[in-house]
Amino acid sequence: MTSESVQPVSGPSRRTVVAAVGAAGLTVALTACGSDDEASGSSTEQGGGATNEGGGSSAGAGGAALAKTTDIPEGSGKIFEKEKVVVSQPTAGEFKAFSTVCTHRNCPMVDLKDDIISCTCHGSQFSVLDGSVKKDPAVKPLEPKQITVNGDSITLA
Ligand code: FES
Repeated sequence: MTSESVQPVSGPSRRTVVAAVGAAGLTVALTACGSDDEASGSSTEQGGGATNEGGGSSAGAGGAALAKTTDIPEGSGKIFEKEKVVVSQPTAGEFKAFSTVCTHRNCPMVDLKDDIISCTCHGSQFSVLDGSVKKDPAVKPLEPKQITVNGDSITLA
């Protein structure tokens, strides 16, 4: 007999095209272009007295001295908030630098006591002499920064 009438309907091209992209998203952003001056001053160069020896950007890529060696106490260090760096002097004449960004959740650290820099966010502590973690929750040591000591001048490399 003929038993070929049973055909499994295998999806007769069920196209459910959801065209949700279209009308939404057409945000006409006509920025008022009525002003006369075409200064378009986006990069305001307010020659503020921040940078001493014109380095351009604040993260002076080699140029402006960060500190004098005499500024860095032996066995401790000094924080440079703007540069987010701490420079330390583990032993006389030996200088190191580390990022002051906490390796736990990236909080900026500004609290230095003796050779320990502390994070006020969750209480991590690090040695500024070698960057090691002294107290968790941070587990990664501080990121070392490159510095150059030239005479009595310390420069971020
Ligand atoms: S971000 Fe510094 S301890 Fe959490």
